[in-house]
Amino acid sequence: MAIRDSLDPEPGLERGRPSDKRADGARGDDGFLIAGRSATPEEHALIVRDQRFDRSHKTPRWWHSNDPVATAWYNSVSASLPRGEAFFIDTLKAFRDDLPPRLAAEVKAFTRQEINHTREHVAFNRLVQDHGYDVESIDRGIHEMLALTEGRPPEFNLAITIALEHFAAIISRQLLAHPEYLAGADPVAADVWRWHATEEIEHKGLVYDVWLHATRDWSAWKRWQVRSLIALLITRKYFGNRVRDAIGLLMQDGFERRSAKRRLRAFLWWKPGMMRRMFVEWAAILKPGFHPWQHDDRALLGLHASAYCDAVMPAE
Ligand SMILES: [Fe+2]
Ligand SMILES: [Fe+2]
Repeated sequence: MAIRDSLDPEPGLERGRPSDKRADGARGDDGFLIAGRSATPEEHALIVRDQRFDRSHKTPRWWHSNDPVATAWYNSVSASLPRGEAFFIDTLKAFRDDLPPRLAAEVKAFTRQEINHTREHVAFNRLVQDHGYDVESIDRGIHEMLALTEGRPPEFNLAITIALEHFAAIISRQLLAHPEYLAGADPVAADVWRWHATEEIEHKGLVYDVWLHATRDWSAWKRWQVRSLIALLITRKYFGNRVRDAIGLLMQDGFERRSAKRRLRAFLWWKPGMMRRMFVEWAAILKPGFHPWQHDDRALLGLHASAYCDAVMPAE
């Protein structure tokens, strides 16, 4: 479904190809973006791939390469997703009545993508739980963290969503650009992650575009300050909690806390070292004038259809 093509150009929010000069927006003497401009490619469309993965497939306990550490990391991330993605959807709801038609339609597509992700990760998390892991306590932790956002200004929650969607987009790029990250993983589980990664990359600019529209009356300085500060705080908190929960899962496998910590640190920062490799890309969010589509990785979206359509089952 190519949503963008069917909609009128959207007033108040300019778009440009990432290769265009416009992608960086107009800059003032201080180097900050004067009027936030989107770098989302003009012809880019969100495609809702309503896929359901094989529910009868029994994923092994250590589904990633028979490696408890890799499994624990991905399980910890997956356990955080259902509530996290519901938060993103709710956050955008607060803005939908004020959006230009094109952006409003994209928010609808984004919402449908995230609802589908949640459905598949709930099923995935159930498999993890069936192996005896305590996933509910992770879910409760996310609930408690998100409760802190209640009653905050909607722009505050939007900045949190930008930070987490940026983190998701960078991880997704790593997963699709470097197949070795999921090499050796259970094929159906790996397909869930690749499918999700595809749509995360595809909609990575949407929340940012809503932000540019919602804060169009803010000064560039204020916009940069709020987004950067929240990105630092939230990413640190979220990452720290994912590490904490992965260690908790490893301890449920019988590892001592110290050994679990050491192994997980080596996995994340050394081999395969995804965090080390993605750090510079993550830090781009702190740049004045940042936009997620300044890094054009649309080529990765094409990998979707070929690699894992065999695992997809018809709708129940
Ligand atoms: Fe998602
Ligand atoms: Fe997302």
